[in-house]
Amino acid sequence: MDSKTLEIIEKLEKTSEEFWNVSHQTGNFINMLIKLAGIKDVLEIGTSNGYSGLWIAEALKTTNGHLTTIEFWEKRQCLAKEYFEYCGLSDVVTFKTGQAYDIITNEINEKFDLVFIDANKQEYIKFFEAVHPLLKKGGVILADNIISHAKKVQPFVDAVSSHNEYQTQILDLPDGLLMAYKLQESLCRV
Ligand SMILES: C[S@@+](CC[C@H](N)C(=O)[O-])C[C@H]1O[C@@H](n2cnc3c(N)ncnc32)[C@H](O)[C@@H]1O
Repeated sequence: MDSKTLEIIEKLEKTSEEFWNVSHQTGNFINMLIKLAGIKDVLEIGTSNGYSGLWIAEALKTTNGHLTTIEFWEKRQCLAKEYFEYCGLSDVVTFKTGQAYDIITNEINEKFDLVFIDANKQEYIKFFEAVHPLLKKGGVILADNIISHAKKVQPFVDAVSSHNEYQTQILDLPDGLLMAYKLQESLCRV
């Protein structure tokens, strides 16, 4: 990681509660996953001030990939834009401003290797239904706050873990991260 990105990541960790950012461990995990799996096309739902996006974009720089990130709180996304610019990562990202569900269903046509869900917890189930057709086979959905907001995300967890196209695991990272791998062939459940 270059010194400017590291500087901003460390700076944003001082205000992570205010901006509801993922933990350092979660950011680091997503960054490693992108690099080790050679992931290229990423959709993020919930930009906030760009903390998780910086972890994602820094990895995408090495895989020649691209991040599309959605946020309805303009002020927050403006901060993210400034940080991406400062870190020299603007060319890796497309910012979309507005209601995530509307943007995903009306504006986005491309397919993704990874979708990171980290917005309104009650909408996770809706986001899942909207992103499922956009996720490539062999792709992965990651969703944060699976342990910290267990009740609110339960409909999503139930839907994805009973879906025969997904193999899932909840990772014991801070707040709980769900990983759902979209299989090449449907699972036979007994
Ligand atoms: C938990 S924060 C995202 C943190 C960010 N992923 C990070 O770790 O740096 C969730 C963000 O999603 C935004 N949000 C919530 N529901 C949304 C929706 N339906 N559409 C777009 N943005 C949404 C909120 O404004 C908030 O900034």
